[in-house]
Amino acid sequence: MKKILAVFGTRPDAIKMCPLVLELKRRESIEVKVCLTGQHREMLDQVIGIFGVTADYDLAVMREGQDLSDITSKIIDGITPILQKEKPDIVLVHGDTTTAFAAALAAFYLKIPVGHVEAGLRTYRIDSPYPEEFNRRAVSLISTFDFAPTEAAKANLIGEGKAPERVFVTGNTVIDALKYTVNEASHSSGRLVLLTAHRRENIGEPMRNIFSAVKRVAEKYDDIKIVYPMHPNPAVRSIAEEILGDCDRVELTEPLDLVAFHTLLAQSYCVLTDSGGVQEEAAALGKPVLILRDTTERTESDSLMLVGTDEDNIVREFERLLEDEELYNTMKNAPNPYGDGNASARIADIIERI
Ligand code: UD1
Ligand code: UDP
Repeated sequence: MKKILAVFGTRPDAIKMCPLVLELKRRESIEVKVCLTGQHREMLDQVIGIFGVTADYDLAVMREGQDLSDITSKIIDGITPILQKEKPDIVLVHGDTTTAFAAALAAFYLKIPVGHVEAGLRTYRIDSPYPEEFNRRAVSLISTFDFAPTEAAKANLIGEGKAPERVFVTGNTVIDALKYTVNEASHSSGRLVLLTAHRRENIGEPMRNIFSAVKRVAEKYDDIKIVYPMHPNPAVRSIAEEILGDCDRVELTEPLDLVAFHTLLAQSYCVLTDSGGVQEEAAALGKPVLILRDTTERTESDSLMLVGTDEDNIVREFERLLEDEELYNTMKNAPNPYGDGNASARIADIIERI
């Protein structure tokens, strides 16, 4: 028996790790245990509830307005005795969160091999996304096994000197997650635009620009409706409520559970987002995306367009997408490079073999 400890703790890493945990549980040669860091709370609990994943450990580190040093130190302190007790053969972490970085570091100090799911994404700008570019590069320094979602991600890792025989291209497990949530009832309905925004480097002026641009376009086109499930971060909410609160065609909601969010995504006309995972999901569902960031590590799909955080530029590109049918159709029909929904099975096969 191989013992695997899967560690995650935010909404996005939970969405992308739950399908893998369920797949590992189906394998007879693997014993899998789950340690939640609780970096997020309501948003995390919503996700694991949908997948029916239960936790063996929960570090419960979330506090309102927590800073990055607090999260990091609490996770290292909390997980170290669990690693010492469980002595797993491999610790699995996901992506670029502080949870992934801190858990990988704690495993490294105890000389426990780390497997990195969604490895190799890069902008090569340490400040964008912040602090995620640091987190994922730091995990790559530590990890023994890298599960890269695409060939481009693998190429980044090889370019950084990682051993090719331990870098596996598997697809992204977020596409596996869609199999649990998107059903036949999900179909397009009018010109619904889905908006998400939460990145730390956008909080402040860039986020004000984003919301002001959205407001200008919403007030100009009476055939669109924009839905923005707000991130719980109070710093994000106060800007959203101030700028978009009185805008009739923009609906501000609480974070949606994953089934509701994927249903809305499948029904939408296009997406505006600074999220990472939403870019991949939208590409898989044929929804054009305007990326509200200066950089993106998702460079493989022609359905994604980087528009930055300049107000006039967002307005211009958003209007172009609403008016230029040829552009819209080209983006909508671009192939999905992020996987076929079998990434978890590939990763589980590899873990059984190594
Ligand atoms: C984190 C990740 C980011 C990921 C994002 C997804 C890091 C450094 N950042 O950023 O990579 O894109 O999650 O959402 O790991 N809060 C709640 N309830 C929750 C979750 C958050 O109230 O369930 C509030 C709290 O006030 C918290 C704040 O949101 O302090 C920020 O949460 P935090 O995990 O620090 O950062 P995110 O911006 O969510
Ligand atoms: N998501 C959700 N409810 C929402 C908004 C997003 O379930 O109201 C899901 C979405 O489907 C995607 C993930 O959250 O899988 C993206 O997480 P987020 O944008 O918080 O983080 P990132 O991917 O940028 O790290």
